[in-house]
Amino acid sequence: MANPDAKNRIVFALLALALLGALAASAAPRPTILLGAAWYPEQWPESRWPKDLKLMQAAHIHVVRVAEFAWSRLEPREGQYDLDWLDRAVALAAQYGIVTVVGTPGAAPPAWLTQKYPDTLRTEQDGRKAQHGNRQQGSVTSPRYRELCRIITEQMARRFGHNLNVIGWQIDNEYGAFSWDDETHRQFQDWLRERYGTLDSLNLHWTAEYWSQTYSDWSQIPMGPGGNPGLALEFKRFQSAAIRNFQHLQVAAIRANSDARQFITSNFMGWYDAFDHYTLTQELDLASWDNYVGSGHLEPFHNGMTHDLTRGFKRKNFWVMETQPGFVNWAPVNNALDRGEVRQMAWHAVGHGADAVSYWQWRSALNGQEEYHGTLVGADGTPVPLYGEVAQLGHEFEQASDALEGTSPAADLAILHSYESRWAIDGQRHNRNFDPVALLFSYYKPLREILQQIDVVSPTAPLAQYRVLVAPGLNVLPEDMAQTLIAYVNGGGHLVLGPRSGMKDQYNALQTARQPGPLLPLLAARVEQYYALNQEVPVSGSWGEGKARIWAEQMKAQAPDAEVLLAYGESNGWLDGQPAAVSHKAGKGRITYIAAWLDDQLMRGAAQWIVRSSGLTPALGPVPDGVEVNRRAGAGKEVFILVNHSKTPRSVTLPRAMRRVLHESAEVSAVELPARGVEVLRAR
Ligand code: GLA
Repeated sequence: MANPDAKNRIVFALLALALLGALAASAAPRPTILLGAAWYPEQWPESRWPKDLKLMQAAHIHVVRVAEFAWSRLEPREGQYDLDWLDRAVALAAQYGIVTVVGTPGAAPPAWLTQKYPDTLRTEQDGRKAQHGNRQQGSVTSPRYRELCRIITEQMARRFGHNLNVIGWQIDNEYGAFSWDDETHRQFQDWLRERYGTLDSLNLHWTAEYWSQTYSDWSQIPMGPGGNPGLALEFKRFQSAAIRNFQHLQVAAIRANSDARQFITSNFMGWYDAFDHYTLTQELDLASWDNYVGSGHLEPFHNGMTHDLTRGFKRKNFWVMETQPGFVNWAPVNNALDRGEVRQMAWHAVGHGADAVSYWQWRSALNGQEEYHGTLVGADGTPVPLYGEVAQLGHEFEQASDALEGTSPAADLAILHSYESRWAIDGQRHNRNFDPVALLFSYYKPLREILQQIDVVSPTAPLAQYRVLVAPGLNVLPEDMAQTLIAYVNGGGHLVLGPRSGMKDQYNALQTARQPGPLLPLLAARVEQYYALNQEVPVSGSWGEGKARIWAEQMKAQAPDAEVLLAYGESNGWLDGQPAAVSHKAGKGRITYIAAWLDDQLMRGAAQWIVRSSGLTPALGPVPDGVEVNRRAGAGKEVFILVNHSKTPRSVTLPRAMRRVLHESAEVSAVELPARGVEVLRAR
């Protein structure tokens, strides 16, 4: 072509056409909250796919997660990739208006890989090698395994990184399985060398003179957990770093080959503590978790706290990447959730900030370890009874799309959650009943009940937005965190510490100041002694009367303006009449130390005082027993999601007129919630 302008015009026209074509190939607009399912097209003949996808479309399913266990189909022989089938599955799903999240398959390596590279297998803690035939047999610390996972991820990213129907990635599946082999041990020693620089420093901080642990060579250091508390805490940090490195190679491979619009996540497991989730989520775009009840039924406060924990990983809305369609197959009794409970549980999640709820799984494989698990269609490929409830939910997500777009939960009070403190306490519980998550919950529940919104945040989260920060059991208090907390109180915040706070430094060594260590001057009171309790101790004061159990610390005020809020009654002699909670105004703020594990009644009193003295107000206002209030706001909107967790109807009077989002109606000032009922209300 002679005319360069004409040539350019044609090139532009072709590019525009290609772009339009790509856009046309992309899925229809998606609602704000997505309904999803885990789909395993590799387990079925391709001729079956359209039927499944049609049924999914009819159930208002908007997203499928695929391929996280499909390595043997994606790479049937080393270096021979077959991604075409997955490409076809993604394209076909799009024809039914369904977008895809692609999982990287590291949790299920193929048999040829295990056979050819036995060094990739994990070693269990008892020295046995993991076998093929289950999953997670690959070692995240094996350099070869990491590289093999990176390569398959890169292949997948090259194929799907610019596919408009692929909206995101899930790295691996439920990390946590670790290896106890020599290579891992060496890596731990190298990691320590990097961290401490010299053995003198390590020996000093671990008080290695104790029991002749002094190390004169890095190779002498054993591998945790257990043993020296300094070592045990470092081992957990190392585990977090090792899993992060494993993850990072795959994140980097995807980022280098994909559009920025595709998110990267990994599916976590609530309070599971094999690694620091804040460390792992740093480089992810989105946090997600697998929300299973197992035996029993939805426990709204427990489950809500776990949603709030997950929202805190990235301090933004999250996904429920997996949840049970009725029942699981791994609990002691795999009872089904009641009729209506699956919907109740999904809206509960959305109320806490979930932007997607995805069911595991769509349909059971005809064989394999999970034949009995709940599904949305049966082995015959037709809907199970729950299908209709889930279809209703998907429809409701669409109805609520405009109202919820741009909204998320927000709170004035945060609970501080520290993996390091949990690890430190769990390593030396002193009272076997001292479960740090249960302690957190004893604060969360009454505060959530009153305030109807709470954040759960990491020790490094920005604190400026919070009027109150509650840190139950902040056992490990490194100097920099202490400085942040001092600045927070001086700046006007109210810091509430629970028992065992401020006892350890960053090396899991005892602080040289009595608890709360570096915060002692701020509190103007200190812990004289701690006691593991084998019987209840009476406690009374301005929050009412009740009992301490599990743990009690004897406190002593060190200044006349330190206010004693609670005192112990007659007990072991040491605690009798001594302060059990002290509060002190400091700078523009306040610090309070609650020195015992208090019963529910006293915790309610404590929560009421915390809320009142800090001038906080509930999100909505009084509601009948069993009704949970959730609030999502943003983009000029305010939406309340009310969930009736009880088995009988409830009437709720609203403080002002609101619009019922799931119903065609004018504004209402009261709503009737049936048993397990849900109401989505737009206040603004
Ligand atoms: C986990 C896994 C899934 C599946 C479900 C069953 O969460 O991620 O692959 O095994 O459990 O409940």
